[in-house]
Amino acid sequence: MTDVVERAPIASAAVLREVAEGLSRPQKELSPKFFYDERGSQLFEEITRLPEYYLTRTERSLLERWMPEWIGSLAPRALVELGAGSAEKTRIVLDAIAATTESAVYVPVDVSAEFLDQTAARIGAAYPSIDVVSLVADITDAFALPAGLPYPTLHAFLGSTIGNFAPDDAVELLRRVRGRMTETDRFLMGVDLRKDPARIEAAYNDAQGVTAEFNRNMLRALNAMTGADFHVDAWEHRAFYNREAHWIEMHLVSPRDHSVSIPGAGVFHFAAGETIRTEISAKHDRASVEAMFAAAGLAIERWMTDDDGLYAITLAAPR
Ligand code: SAH
Ligand code: AVI
Repeated sequence: MTDVVERAPIASAAVLREVAEGLSRPQKELSPKFFYDERGSQLFEEITRLPEYYLTRTERSLLERWMPEWIGSLAPRALVELGAGSAEKTRIVLDAIAATTESAVYVPVDVSAEFLDQTAARIGAAYPSIDVVSLVADITDAFALPAGLPYPTLHAFLGSTIGNFAPDDAVELLRRVRGRMTETDRFLMGVDLRKDPARIEAAYNDAQGVTAEFNRNMLRALNAMTGADFHVDAWEHRAFYNREAHWIEMHLVSPRDHSVSIPGAGVFHFAAGETIRTEISAKHDRASVEAMFAAAGLAIERWMTDDDGLYAITLAAPR
């Protein structure tokens, strides 16, 4: 026999307002940050190992190739990482930092609190010379860094997570990063590049259905967080490349005409076949990254892609 312990809904008033606002738009929308409860973070880790999902392994090999040189000339004493997740690839950056300094501080920032705790514990145990100070925060909001971080500080945003923000929000986020940087700090970012849409669509429609489960998990997370009554398994996963916008978008498709009650947010009607857009994942080229950076007060100092031009890592300086 198993005991079922119901978790009490824990959504804040701000989250309930955000959900209500998103589900009241003509194209219903929910923020991708709601993917990442503990299960969602684990599902994302599974995605990173899928044969179709080239992003993570391509970024890893670029970091392996370039971090010793880039970090060697910068010699950062602190690393602040936005949306750190499992920080598995970050180890490559931390290895390079540990090779250039006797002590450093690592500040992983993420909304996924339990998962972040596990990451911080693992990294802390693996790197005795690095102080790990984790920060649970929504990176779209203003948040303060721990006081007295040693400098120079490397700010990092890996995994192409910048693509999950609408263009104006991405620039706003980069402006906030710039606002936390001193002249000698640098910003390291990974971006997925524009390519054959079929290759991109395959990465978001994997044969094993892990991405579909990741997508549906958002509704499961919302049920747990708010006490909503989404019939999660009935919703269908859809992902397609939007060629005009240069992004892939993920949707959840309503199985029938019905209403869903989200306590504290309202009752929302869904027609059969109507969708909720749960994510965009923008694809870039050097010019589009330069434009985002310029709008945020940053300039590219280094830019490297893999031989197939799938993915880029870039280092930016304040301008
Ligand atoms: N950097 C890792 C993980 C990428 S997955 C990698 O490259 O593999 C995206 C990560 O960003 C998740 O850990 C998720 O919890 C976090 N995230 C998404 N939206 C966020 C937000 N608004 N604020 C803070 N963290 C966020
Ligand atoms: C975290 N982020 C960059 C991933 C992406 O590719 O946009 C999230 C993801 N969505 C579906 N698969 C992976």
